[in-house]
Amino acid sequence: MTDGCGREIEYLRLSVTDKCNLRCKYCMPEEGIRHLLHTDVLSFEEIQRLVGIMKGLGIGKMRLTGGEPLVRKGVVSLVDMLPCDVYMTTNGCMLSEYARALKEAGLRGVNVSLDTLDAARFKELTGRDELGRVLEGIDAAADAGIPVKLNCVPIRGVNDGEIEELCDFARRSSFDIRFIELMPIGCASAHTGIPSDEIIERLGLTPSESPSDGRLSSGPAKYYRQEGSGTRIGFISPMSQKFCDTCNRIRLTADGFLKTCLQYSNGTDLRLLLRSGADNDTIRRAIESAVGYKPPAHSFGNDSGSDTRRMVQIGG
Ligand code: 5AD
Ligand code: SF4
Repeated sequence: MTDGCGREIEYLRLSVTDKCNLRCKYCMPEEGIRHLLHTDVLSFEEIQRLVGIMKGLGIGKMRLTGGEPLVRKGVVSLVDMLPCDVYMTTNGCMLSEYARALKEAGLRGVNVSLDTLDAARFKELTGRDELGRVLEGIDAAADAGIPVKLNCVPIRGVNDGEIEELCDFARRSSFDIRFIELMPIGCASAHTGIPSDEIIERLGLTPSESPSDGRLSSGPAKYYRQEGSGTRIGFISPMSQKFCDTCNRIRLTADGFLKTCLQYSNGTDLRLLLRSGADNDTIRRAIESAVGYKPPAHSFGNDSGSDTRRMVQIGG
């Protein structure tokens, strides 16, 4: 399925809950959010049906997100139910409990958010004293044979002193690590992200010694080899180097809204169709039509037409 700009859409980010057991300052407002009612959230059967239709449209890869996907009861069985390659992005807190079962259910890989290795800073940033459990979760996933990548959002005055240490940790543990530029969505606007080039320069990574690029992966990360190891340091730079022209993804929120761009509210309410008894053909046409209007690019900083959903409600 191609969109109105000719981009082939192959990848779905599927939020399974708007709840989270952490409250990262740049994602969750201090007062919390008003959560969806259980009846508003798509059931696993509804998700399975939509994913089946999307598979017919060429979407063979999906990533479960949240909120925190592991707080959704029974999510392991959802992994098992989905007829495509399933990945997950998690904060890692509950990973040690579920790693084996996720592997058995066929999970292909997990991205774990790790913004700091300092327990006090972790607590300050996320409101919870859970760094130990996250590190256990990372180990458990690796032990279970699930490929692990680490994600870090560098924020000025918060974790910018830890970049080298995080890279060392990733190298020692044989994981790739990716630094993601903070996008000014919701409460993230109160913080300042760090441009990828600043980190690349600081780490002394040069393109000549590390010519890895988009070819090493299908996603938006640009990778550099970590010296003396097989691991890589990746940069996802939505602010300084927009990658919208190769964007191959759409998003489904936990309440069944198909979002075609992270920034804008464009999309269509698939839950309404599902629950009004629409047949698969009608749903397929609605998806194709919404994808036809996928915005050509984001323009963070210029808010007209922006979605008012919080990051925790979209799933990143
Ligand atoms: N900008 C960039 N990344 C973000 N994440 C959450 N909010 C933002 C933001 N405003 C990241 C989380 C996690 C992933 C799901 O998205 O840290 O790694
Ligand atoms: Fe933090 Fe992710 Fe939870 Fe947001 S959804 S509060 S970024 S762990």
